[in-house]
Amino acid sequence: MPIVSIEQLDWIVQQHPAMSHTVFDTWAARKPGLATLGATLYQIGAFCDATRTCGSMAEGLTALGQDAAPQLLREIEESERGHENRFLEMARRLLIETEPEQARYLPLNDLSSTHELLRQLSVRRLNNVPGVHHKAGLLVQTVRSQLHFRQRADTRREMVAYNVGGMLAVEMLANRHIIPGEIRAIAYSDHYDVDLDQPDLAYLAEHAGENGAEAQHEKAIRKITADLLEHDNLAAFVGNGAQITCDIVGEFYDVLETVLRFG
Ligand SMILES: [Fe+2]
Repeated sequence: MPIVSIEQLDWIVQQHPAMSHTVFDTWAARKPGLATLGATLYQIGAFCDATRTCGSMAEGLTALGQDAAPQLLREIEESERGHENRFLEMARRLLIETEPEQARYLPLNDLSSTHELLRQLSVRRLNNVPGVHHKAGLLVQTVRSQLHFRQRADTRREMVAYNVGGMLAVEMLANRHIIPGEIRAIAYSDHYDVDLDQPDLAYLAEHAGENGAEAQHEKAIRKITADLLEHDNLAAFVGNGAQITCDIVGEFYDVLETVLRFG
């Protein structure tokens, strides 16, 4: 009998305050100005980019005898391909929708200039936020998440287990909270003249729903997690990885919500 079951992990993630955080409702309730929108999208983009590769988890899981895991992880990585660009296409559209009259003066010709504009807006908007990395335009909580997910490069067995728990948590959050929250704030809020069928919003459409990318990721990592929990001595590391990931996401949301409230 494992000391942490998949049901207990489910409970840890579902009950965590991050899973019911109000950050996206705050965004849906009030349209952010240009700098606040840019800063918000830049942090979310940096956070998501950090979750898109599985590092060395496949090797680590193979060494633990988890033969089905590498293929499942490959499918997750495969489905993430191109999503940095889809995200930037959506960001560009939202920036234009926020300042339609000024839009032709914004440097948005290609996706790298869109990325650079998001960084500049972040630097400007987050200037007085404690702990911000001024040149990068990143909140300390965003950097924290990047460092956290970079640990997926570690193939020590305890760290592999920790990273599996972390991945379960982040995929559950993405599927059940982040993507539905972004859809409420972006597509259903009336802030922007957009809908989910438009090519600019392909990012959200591809991730959402029962057959969307996030549902597929959650299913895959759930299977990997359940198999790994057969190793009794690793279960606590899986649980800890899930818990800490939820904490990191919750702290990230707290500061983003503060930025959205005052801009
Ligand atoms: Fe995902």
